[in-house]
Amino acid sequence: MSSGSAPRGLDGVVAAQTRLSHVDGLAGELIIGGYELKELAGKVTFEEAAHLLWRGKLPDAGELTNLRREMAALRALPSETMHVVGAAAKAPPIDVLRMASATLSLDLPHPDAITPDADLAAAKLLTARFPTVLAAHTRIAAGKEPIAPRADLSHAANFLYMVHGKEPDPIAARAIDTYWVTVIDHGMNASTFAARVIASTRSDMVSGVTGAIGALKGPLHGGAPGPVLDMLVDIGSADRAEAWMRKELAASRRIMGFGHRVYKVRDPRADVLSKVADEMSSAALEDKKLFTLARAVEQTVLRVLDEVKPGRNLRTNVEFYTALVLQALGLKPGSFVATFACGRVAGWCAHVIEQHAEDHLIRPQSEYVGPRGLRLED
Ligand code: ACO
Repeated sequence: MSSGSAPRGLDGVVAAQTRLSHVDGLAGELIIGGYELKELAGKVTFEEAAHLLWRGKLPDAGELTNLRREMAALRALPSETMHVVGAAAKAPPIDVLRMASATLSLDLPHPDAITPDADLAAAKLLTARFPTVLAAHTRIAAGKEPIAPRADLSHAANFLYMVHGKEPDPIAARAIDTYWVTVIDHGMNASTFAARVIASTRSDMVSGVTGAIGALKGPLHGGAPGPVLDMLVDIGSADRAEAWMRKELAASRRIMGFGHRVYKVRDPRADVLSKVADEMSSAALEDKKLFTLARAVEQTVLRVLDEVKPGRNLRTNVEFYTALVLQALGLKPGSFVATFACGRVAGWCAHVIEQHAEDHLIRPQSEYVGPRGLRLED
């Protein structure tokens, strides 16, 4: 690192001031809009948490009713978006979400406007429609007809209804709701930073959010829970876990669902989601077996990582138990990262609103390490 250059990967660099969320990686604390995660998760709905981020406070009863009504009325997809979803039936759900997200500006009266009112309108529209995109694609990819959203169900319950074609059990609806609240925002993670960089050019909300989806997709960010499930299935039984881990680490492969750039202790979101996964798994024997296996594998991974990678403080992250929760909800591993995006979209929108208010271009420099003085041959 030469003088004036930031650490690799901007590790430890403060890139923005925000009132939205704060991650304390040593204390294992996540603050969302002033509240610790454990204060919110399971106690407020996703719509309330979205209001907290977009408006700076939890809604009163009237504000909540209005927000619910407005977002419910926005759930149905315009024909252009449905066309893209249908045309991309074979693509991975996160790619479909990225393509569909880009079309949603077509339905905004002033897609380039970045005033607080225009941003709020776009935030409601994007957040309301992401689950509809994912549910429609899930069904089309399975050769089934998409199911139209219902305005009388909560945001969470309606998503499961659109995926499975029947009203969900209240425990299942509460589980996806808690999951989305848990992942709604998380400091200056890669996808949020991507959204803020785009917004800092005075570009619009839909562009910022669509770019963020591209950043979320990678396995080092949001793409880990699918591989977590593959890992558990591959391990099969607790007594095989240690040999499996050692082989992976010897091959220099990473164990998905462990390690975090900021958390050096257990990710507080893993605590919330392990409880949700426990509750969800009680309903089905197969899920219970998987949950019991996951608990045992977690302990083995932590012990082996401490031994093989001493001092790196690699602990359980949010993705490990996300895999169990989403699997128990009947969602396919291929759609896990897109399901994550359905929660995080509210946070991305809040950051775009905040960045537009900040109105300052994010434009770092690079350190040139290439050759100089090359000449074209005669
Ligand atoms: N398994 C094995 N080794 C690991 C893991 C892991 N999961 N994570 C980090 N390490 C090791 C690295 O190999 C490296 O070892 P070395 O010092 O011998 O070279 C050391 O720990 C530090 O690794 P970095 O890549 O520098 O750490 P960074 O902070 O950049 O990584 C990350 C964070 C990307 C999340 C990493 O821990 C990882 O790849 N985890 C697995 C993927 C995952 O679970 N992603 C979801 C993250 S949560 C989220 O974004 C929503």
